[in-house]
Order: sequence, then C-alpha cells, then structure tokens
Amino acid sequence: MEHIPEINIEELLETHRFLQATFNGIRDQIMVVDSDYRIKEVNESFVKRLGKPRHEIVGKYCYRLLHDMDKPCDMPNHPCPVQETLKTGKFCEVLHTHLEGREASYYRVTTYPVLDDQGAVTHVIEIARDITRRKKAEDQVYSMQRLASLGELAAGVAHELNNPVGIILGFANLLMGKTEPGSKEYEMVKIIERQGLNCKRIVESLLSFASRYPEKIEYSADVNVNLERMIFIVENILVSKKISLERNLAEDLPKVRGDPGHLQQVFMNLITNAVAAMEGGGVLTISTRLNEPDDRVKILFSDTGHGIKKEHRDRIFDPFFTTREVGEGSGLGLSVSYGIVTRYGGTITFETLVEEEDRERKGTTFTVSLPVVPSESKPR
Ligand SMILES: Nc1ncnc2c1ncn2[C@@H]1O[C@H](COP(=O)(O)OP(=O)(O)O)[C@@H](O)[C@H]1O
Ligand SMILES: [Mg+2]
Repeated sequence: MEHIPEINIEELLETHRFLQATFNGIRDQIMVVDSDYRIKEVNESFVKRLGKPRHEIVGKYCYRLLHDMDKPCDMPNHPCPVQETLKTGKFCEVLHTHLEGREASYYRVTTYPVLDDQGAVTHVIEIARDITRRKKAEDQVYSMQRLASLGELAAGVAHELNNPVGIILGFANLLMGKTEPGSKEYEMVKIIERQGLNCKRIVESLLSFASRYPEKIEYSADVNVNLERMIFIVENILVSKKISLERNLAEDLPKVRGDPGHLQQVFMNLITNAVAAMEGGGVLTISTRLNEPDDRVKILFSDTGHGIKKEHRDRIFDPFFTTREVGEGSGLGLSVSYGIVTRYGGTITFETLVEEEDRERKGTTFTVSLPVVPSESKPR
C-alpha cells in the first residue's frame, strides 16, 4: 500500500496564522488582484483606509471599488500600475496624488507580478505607501535650494553687469559736461544716464536678493519707528484707494537686527503689494509683537485683497516673477525683501486664500520675523 504522508493540520494552521499576521502587520496598504482585476486579498491597513467591511472589498473589481469605473481605469493623470504589471509581467511604480479638500496627500504605489510555472501573470500585488509627510518636507527643502541657486545665478548676472553699467554711467557723465544744458544732445545723454541708473537699481536688487552685501551685524533698528515712517508716506494713498488701516503695534519692542533703511524697504514693498491686491478697497492690518520663546519680533501685514493663486505660490519670491501688467511691476519687491530679511537671520512667510477657497477670509498675510538684538544690560 502506498504511504500517504501525514498532514499536520495544526502545523498548517499555525503557518497560515503566521503569514496572516505578517501580512496584516505591514503598515503599507496591500491588495492582491487576479488577472481580471478582481480583488483576492487585502491587508488590514487597506481595509482601514477604505473604511468598508472586508466582505465588501474582497471579490469586487478594483476599478469599480476604488474608482467607480465600469472597466479597467484609463485616466491620463492617474496611470494604473496594476494594468502595467499585467501587461509586462514586471514591477511598476507610480506616484498618486489625492486631493481631500484643500489638503493633498501623496501615495507611492508599487505593483509586483505573481507568475505561474509558465511565467504568465496570474495575480498582481499592489502596495501603496502614504508618503505625504516626507514629500512635503522634501518640497520645502527643494524650494529653499531653488531660491539659493536662483540667488547664485542672480549674483553672477549682477556682477557681470555691474562693470559695464558703471562704465556707461561714467561716460554719460563725462559727455554731459561736454554738451550744452538744454541742447538736444544734452537731453539724449540725460536719457542714457537715466536708463543706466535704472539698470544699476536692478543690479543692486539682484545682489540684494542673493544676499551678496556684506552682513553688517552691528546694525539695529526700531521696528515701530520705521514702520510709522513708511505708514506716514502711504497714508494718503490708502485713503484715496479706500483702504482703511488698522495698527496693532506692540509697545516697548526691543530693537531688531537690521539696517533701518533696508527694513523700511521691506515694509514698503509689502505695503505696496497689499495695496495693489485691494483694487476696490479693503483693510490693511499691520501688527507687531514680540515672540518671547525665540526672541524675535514679528511684523504682520494682512490684507483683504484677492490673494495669491495656488499656481503662483511657489514662485512669488523668485526675482522677476510678477503677475502685473508689463511696466507695472518689476517682480523684484519680494525677492529683494527675502534677501534683506534672510541676511539678518530673519524669515519671511505668507498665508493666503483666494476667493474660490474662502470668500469670507480671502486675502494675504505676510509675516516678517527678525531676531532681537541682545541688549547690553542683559545679564550674560
Ligand atoms: N499681498 C499680496 N496679495 C496678492 N498677491 C501678492 C501679494 N504680494 C505679492 N503678490 C504676488 O507676488 C508677485 C510678486 O511680487 P513682487 O516681488 O513684489 O513683484 P511685483 O510687485 O513687482 O509684481 C506679485 O506680482 C503678485 O502676484
Ligand atoms: Mg511688489
């Protein structure tokens, strides 16, 4: 009689339990589908993310369950890696973006084939991992690196232009001395000088963005005094544009690092931008306060204007980026302000909402944060 090996049911069950626990122990979301896109198996993470009981998942077509489609998905922006692996028999990886309200989340989706003895694909394993936090951190680093390399480029161009512009201005000056004031030639040289000075200003702005001026740490400035000076200059313009001003200036602020002239320039740039965003009038709120935990003074410029569109948000600090009509904006205001503020160890950030996002709260707030100058009287 043939000997039938004894099957140890206990051992098999134990192996099954172990594999099941391993499968469910994985935090990534795993789904196994057959060659007809029917879901064979999912792990607990997957069930949790879907928020449906298991029996409503297993046995269903993945395209119907996940994307509410009648046939395998065919979305140009959302490539299906399962399809790809079924076709090629190879592993495939894609990045999927999901929008939930205003928040985006990112998934890295990888698929692997399960092959039979003949090498045909019988099943596909799909593994999805939530990489939102890592992606956001990477984006932030990328944006800082991008501004830094733009700074390198800007500084290079500015240095190259510095000499020729200086020479043009020098000769214009010389010619001016040789022509009769009021004559046609004199006026022409005047134009050369004026345009030369324009170039010089742009070059200086680029250098300022690239933080290529030597850092003068000994500078210190009184934030409120310098803000008031700028407010004094724009007050009449605000009235004529139907913009009301709210001041929220904290008293007894310590001095901050920074050359007063430079800081005035930053304040003026931010105020001008806010005014430009409120075409039909609005409210400009300027606040200052001391943030004790990190010894910084925060200066907030809040407007009720049109806000900054999503597709522009990554670029507003880039030199020459502007949404204004030709001749109306240079696109240098924010990049210069960025250069100045970071030179003194500060930061400049913004929050913004456009009408489509929130009708009631649309507008933009720029926050400048500058380190306090240590006062001499402070005990060491
Ligand atoms: N407070 C604001 N509200 C809306 N958009 C703004 C605001 N500040 C800046 N922006 C946007 O950022 C762009 C760049 O600003 P900036 O560097 O000052 O250059 P410019 O003002 O010359 O365009 C502007 O063209 C505008 O689209
Ligand atoms: Mg501007």
